[in-house]
Amino acid sequence: MKIEFPFSVIFLAGGTGARMGSVIPKQYLSVHQKPLALYSFEVLASLPEVQGFVVVCEPQYDSLFLGNQKARGLQLQFARPGLSRQDSVFNGIQYLEKNSLVCIHDSARPLIDSSIVRRAVQAAKSWGAAAVGVKVRSTIKVCDGAQVVIDTPNRASLWEIQTPQVIRLDLLKEGFAYARDHQLKVTDDVSLIELLGKPVKIIEGSYANIKVTTVEDLMCIEKLIEKHAVL
Ligand code: C5P
Repeated sequence: MKIEFPFSVIFLAGGTGARMGSVIPKQYLSVHQKPLALYSFEVLASLPEVQGFVVVCEPQYDSLFLGNQKARGLQLQFARPGLSRQDSVFNGIQYLEKNSLVCIHDSARPLIDSSIVRRAVQAAKSWGAAAVGVKVRSTIKVCDGAQVVIDTPNRASLWEIQTPQVIRLDLLKEGFAYARDHQLKVTDDVSLIELLGKPVKIIEGSYANIKVTTVEDLMCIEKLIEKHAVL
């Protein structure tokens, strides 16, 4: 079978998740008897379009992914985390050879949907870079250092950005080189493409695609997983 939109995955499972205040990094906390990271890992590992799969994690967690049933037949590769998330992405892409589309996903977002992943991949094929996001529901204010409002951007044009983010490998490398040369730091992957002045397409995703950061997020995820299990 010819795969129309093949892609590689950089699966980010490094970092300590300090804001959660737990000894175990947040992405390995157990939710319904399963480490959080395995929820989205299994979705991505089950897609036949995946041609390369790099997990970025500390060595003690390699076996968790290697031993997962859904990883059977996949040639998993392992990269080690850097100090920041962006360093981890950079370390991960060193394992990719072909100029493929790269799907970067935070393991701390367990509730991804394969159809949304595929829509992001297809958009990146046309545009070079795409990120999943949702429309902002709250009013957002820009404040100065003294917390005095400077601006209230028009909510209709604001999107909250999630992962997966899918980028052509050559563009991503160019973005990293630009950020390095200009000593710039970014907090998500498609920002590297924006730095180059190139387009980034946003794909509308789901509000359930929460990133676990705090205990409250974990409680929401637990409930959402329960609901998904019932459906
Ligand atoms: O800490 P934060 O919520 O921004 O992390 C987002 C994702 O990036 C998480 O899935 C985490 O495992 C990953 N990460 C990483 N390496 C780091 C920091 C975070 O792989 N140094």
